[in-house]
Amino acid sequence: VSSLVKITVLPENVTVPVAEDQTVLSALLAAGINHTCVCGGNARCSTCRVMVLEGLTCCTSPQSDQEKAVTDQLRLDNQIRLACQTYVSNDITIRRLVLDEEDCQITNQLQGAHSLAVGKEKTIPILFADIRNFTPFTESLLPYDVVHVLNRYFFRMDRVIQQHGGSINNFIGDGLMAVFGLSEDENPTLNAVQAALEMLEEVEALKPYLEKLFQKSFDIGIGIHVGNVVVGTVGAASLYKTTVIGDAVNVASRIENANKELDTRLLISETVLAEVRDQVQTGKKHQVTFKGKSGQHTLYEIIEVIES
Ligand code: FES
Repeated sequence: VSSLVKITVLPENVTVPVAEDQTVLSALLAAGINHTCVCGGNARCSTCRVMVLEGLTCCTSPQSDQEKAVTDQLRLDNQIRLACQTYVSNDITIRRLVLDEEDCQITNQLQGAHSLAVGKEKTIPILFADIRNFTPFTESLLPYDVVHVLNRYFFRMDRVIQQHGGSINNFIGDGLMAVFGLSEDENPTLNAVQAALEMLEEVEALKPYLEKLFQKSFDIGIGIHVGNVVVGTVGAASLYKTTVIGDAVNVASRIENANKELDTRLLISETVLAEVRDQVQTGKKHQVTFKGKSGQHTLYEIIEVIES
């Protein structure tokens, strides 16, 4: 490429030519610099980010809509630009920011969770689900089948939970914990209840498949509670995770557990009912005590969500 415009690239401290119709990314790649671009230059990954040290006014202005969407979401400083979206009209100096695999993993992993990276207190619904008698079910199954059945079950549950704005936060053996309302949903509690009902339907739909292959099937129990928790992103380069901490998590888990004794499939706490009272039809009401907790707790079975 013959051009008078040049990019000085740090930390390499080399100068590369850039044509008018060439993005910073393609100029770097053309010059043999192995610049990271996980999404292939489509303004989706942000791993091509560079810090513009000199000549910011010579970079595409305003940012393209695609670039702006990414830098806004990640709250990147305006000095940080996506190399794949930026054209330059005169000499600039940049510092490349994602230099190796570790940088890349951190950049990628934190992207989705960024808004929660700092601990925040939030009142959210927490859902626990557990397979009833999974251990006896797995007896006489091949290890391959055990894992396959679990994956198939989790795959379906994950899909339902996501459709209702929730996300699975943890897998505990054959159990799962999901949280709702991490983004600003209108009624995360109702979403959680709806998800739970659909999860039960999904398990019903899975039964013929299990019966056909193994001549047996399983059921699940679900518990939901709404409470105040601390949400934050923790971890290290190999694994970043949204973690949810608080007594409400233990309560939700115990509600789920109460299904066993009560021989029920879906139980919610009073705080959940308070938020969805007009939109659900409840079944039986149960008084329970939780091990290690004082007092009686009232739990409700849910029959269905009434369209309002
Ligand atoms: S390469 Fe993914 S955003 Fe630029």
